[in-house]
Amino acid sequence: MFEWNESFSVDIPLIDQQHKKLFDIGERVYRLIEEDYNNKNFHEIMNLIDELYKYTKYHFEEEEKIMKFYNYPGLNAHRQEHNKFIEYLDDLKIGEIIEEREDALKDLIKFIASWIFRHIGSSDFSYKDYIASKKRGSL
Ligand code: FEO
Repeated sequence: MFEWNESFSVDIPLIDQQHKKLFDIGERVYRLIEEDYNNKNFHEIMNLIDELYKYTKYHFEEEEKIMKFYNYPGLNAHRQEHNKFIEYLDDLKIGEIIEEREDALKDLIKFIASWIFRHIGSSDFSYKDYIASKKRGSL
């Protein structure tokens, strides 16, 4: 489900590396839910979701620093998108969802996956060309 490939590259190695790690954590959560869901791995699933949440926050901060460094004009709008997603995750009651239903947890992971794919493919790609031009000195 979470598979990074070159088509997701924003041509900034540090950011590509962070996106790969996000995909990797997401994939581990997804597999645990999809293949090994049982009462025994609740804690493991919760720990991985927490890791995904923390790493997402860290990644957003790092990405914003790079956009700021290059004076990317879309920084504020991009930051707002990041903040809204973090607020959404903050408002989730993960523990209740897990106790309630396996399906709800799968839906949550699918939502997070589609948000990340969409965000990288549109918003992150919006700074890709701008920063590449800055690096070449053509802007
Ligand atoms: Fe790579 Fe804007 O998150």
